[in-house]
Amino acid sequence: MDTAEIRRRFVAHFERAGHTPVPSASLLLDDPNLLFVNAGMVPFKPYFLGQETPPYARATSVQKCVRTPDIEDVGKTTRHGTFFEMCGNFSFGDYFKEGAIELAWELCTKPLADGGWGLDPARLYPSVYDQDAEAVALWKKVTGLPDERILRLGKRENYWSMGVPGPGGPCSELLYDRGPEFGPDFDPAALGPDMPVELEDRLLEIWNLVFMQDELSAVRSKSDFDIAGSLPKRNIDTGMGLERVAFLLQGKQNMYEIDVMFPVIEKAMALTGKRYGAGGAQGHEDDVRFRVVADHVRSSMMLIGDGVTPGNEARGYVLRRLLRRAVRSMRLLGYEDPALPELLPISRDKMGETYTELHRDWDRISRVAYAEEEAFRKTLQAGTQIFDLAATEVKRSGADRLSGEKAFALHDTYGFPIDLTLEMASEAGLSVDEPGFRALMAEQRERAKADARAKKGQHADTTVYRGILDAHGPTDWLAYETLETESRALAVLQAGAPVGSLAEGEIGELVLDRTPFYAESGGQAADAGIIELDGGRLEVLDVQRPVRGLVVHQVRVLEGELDTGSALHAKVDPEWRTGARQAHSGTHVVHAALREVLGPSALQSGSYNRPGYLRLDFGWTTGLSADQVRDIELVSNQALRADLPVSWQYMTLPEAKEWGAIALFGETYDDTKVRVVEIGGPWSRELCGGTHVDHSSQIGTIVVTGEASVGSGNRRIEAFTGVEGFAYLARERDVVDQLTSLLKTRPDDLVGRVGDLVERLRAAEKEVERARLGQLLAGGAQLAASAAVIGGVHVVAHRVDGASGGDVRTLAMDVRGRLPDGAPGVVVVIGAADGKVSVVAATTEAARDLGLSANDLVRAVGPLVGGKGGGKADVAQGGGTDASRIDEALALVHTEVARATGGS
Ligand code: ALA
Repeated sequence: MDTAEIRRRFVAHFERAGHTPVPSASLLLDDPNLLFVNAGMVPFKPYFLGQETPPYARATSVQKCVRTPDIEDVGKTTRHGTFFEMCGNFSFGDYFKEGAIELAWELCTKPLADGGWGLDPARLYPSVYDQDAEAVALWKKVTGLPDERILRLGKRENYWSMGVPGPGGPCSELLYDRGPEFGPDFDPAALGPDMPVELEDRLLEIWNLVFMQDELSAVRSKSDFDIAGSLPKRNIDTGMGLERVAFLLQGKQNMYEIDVMFPVIEKAMALTGKRYGAGGAQGHEDDVRFRVVADHVRSSMMLIGDGVTPGNEARGYVLRRLLRRAVRSMRLLGYEDPALPELLPISRDKMGETYTELHRDWDRISRVAYAEEEAFRKTLQAGTQIFDLAATEVKRSGADRLSGEKAFALHDTYGFPIDLTLEMASEAGLSVDEPGFRALMAEQRERAKADARAKKGQHADTTVYRGILDAHGPTDWLAYETLETESRALAVLQAGAPVGSLAEGEIGELVLDRTPFYAESGGQAADAGIIELDGGRLEVLDVQRPVRGLVVHQVRVLEGELDTGSALHAKVDPEWRTGARQAHSGTHVVHAALREVLGPSALQSGSYNRPGYLRLDFGWTTGLSADQVRDIELVSNQALRADLPVSWQYMTLPEAKEWGAIALFGETYDDTKVRVVEIGGPWSRELCGGTHVDHSSQIGTIVVTGEASVGSGNRRIEAFTGVEGFAYLARERDVVDQLTSLLKTRPDDLVGRVGDLVERLRAAEKEVERARLGQLLAGGAQLAASAAVIGGVHVVAHRVDGASGGDVRTLAMDVRGRLPDGAPGVVVVIGAADGKVSVVAATTEAARDLGLSANDLVRAVGPLVGGKGGGKADVAQGGGTDASRIDEALALVHTEVARATGGS
């Protein structure tokens, strides 16, 4: 049964049982604790926590998930995929344990002909949390299995949480016994509390039923956490591994061999000429590489599809690692040409059957991936050079081992994976200090962990906000409706802890029962403004939403004192807000213009806007031409002039997609309805929670000021809007005014005039240079003629002030050429310019025959001018820094010649 059919049967089974099918959320849901969505329940979290009311009591979904903590295990086990699809059914205070068990058991064991999986009940083992007697009884009741078939396991296995504070609960798993070829025989009654490692392949976990009833306040490990209390309702959250069921039902050995993944392995085989499975049952390291390729190619594609671009931090870094590991695995399999253009389309064709947007966005997705492979290939090239150098050094020192530091530096600085270093070292006949390398890696990991702990600490603070939210409910948020409102101070905080009040001059956080202030989100900066209180005023410095539903203002007390409970009057600065609306709508306009000029594959990857200014980052690998930038500005301003209506409405995500709305990275989507902002109907439709103008003309103007690269595969366009746009143009006009009056010309002639001036300046400079040289050399004939004759040698020792190296040499050579033919001659010219002394000596052949050398002369006079130098017997050059003894140096030339020739 192909994967698509398994997915279809899952959804149909639960739809029949009254569940609303909910489409998969983006992998990038906006949750500060999660890098990627890692379970089917993530989009439903606010319902489980009771923060929001679900529009349905039962739901089912097939959620895209990415888990990356065990990237290194991919391909080594049969079941670890970085990207996978989790089929789930959810009950929000509706059915509980019994319902969940019944529904799962029914689907698993129902015959294939009746729409089930047809799994043999004799091979299925339920597991329960060992404290959960109720679950044991229910499994027996529903399945008719005897008591000893039910595994009792500890918290590590059968208590589920998100790994961070949030909902959790005891769980039950359905395990499938794959038979004795996959692990030793076992006694189900004697297992526990931990599942023995050697049984993990044999007893394949296919479905996890979580009886979600607790709210966790701290999670230190799988078995060490604090339960803060019960959730408002008892819920069900389940997760069935689509790939796992697929490989069981398709009779394959592991998830990498299923219908939607194996074609990539086949292509890799064709490209590399290696055979997957060549190692038989023992496996072969090449098999792992093939699986890594199949997994990482798919995961990267899905991540890019949802808007991630490769980078050096967080999500971007995970993507970069996946792409590079895929490329490297192909290299290790012996394929050195660009691999992704061969492999990615295969994965697209399989996954695109379900995720049609992969086809639609193919231009962008493929461009991002291929550019990263190109960049990595360059890295490999640079790293290879460094490696070769290091290897040569090691060999020269007579050793045969590359140090751990070198291997680490290659890894850290050049992104050189250790197995590549190992491989290249062994090719070069060297070993590598691997333990040394591992120790350094471990140190680095420790540092990273400490970092992550520090960051988690910050998140832990959200419990304070959560407490406020629980006590008072969500902030009544009026940013779309009004700029001012009466309100009340519900809580005053400093350094993350509640304080009763803030005195004049102090800065702290303030939670109001209602607020008109826009909290920073979706790229739009927080509102500025004032909050008035009886006998005082607060300045609003920042506005954030640390937990969903709660708006927190950072304020400074300008006058008076702020007390919890006081009545206040909150006032957004209207000018600020006007500017913010212009800038945010401007961002949408520039985005639409960008896509009109560059094509629909140009997609925003991030944005920021505040009154008067906007910037938009977008996935694009090449620089824009000046014409393209101008066109984007032109199309934007035409949209302003067309005075397009701006409107927004709420709809479901599928409706929004149907409408062609662009859903962007990191947006916060309300789970039922999303807000779609449109400008000029379909011209610009984006999911957005920001504040906007009513008509595009209200943006005033959009002045694009620049376009540049912001890291691999991303460009940034910046612009001024509204009054700032005009101010920018006014500044430019001022410059033009000043120039026209300076040059006494009209603006239209300015460029021509400046062009003329530059040309004339260049010509004049050339002329000056010619004149200078002429002057310099004009003295040459005279100098040669007035040479002193010492011991039969014509000696010219001359000083030129204001001349430096090149000129001094030109003069010396010129003078030497003018000395009488065949006569012995010595020329020494010393120039001084800008505190530098240049010495050039030149001899004729006849002088050299007498034993006179230019090199000796420069060496003799050099010390007098505070420098040194040298050269050959015919010409030598030197320099120094002491101009005070130049004349002495020149006199020395005469002395030297006299000494050498014995004359005077
Ligand atoms: N949320 C549960 C899991 O991820 C179902 O295993």
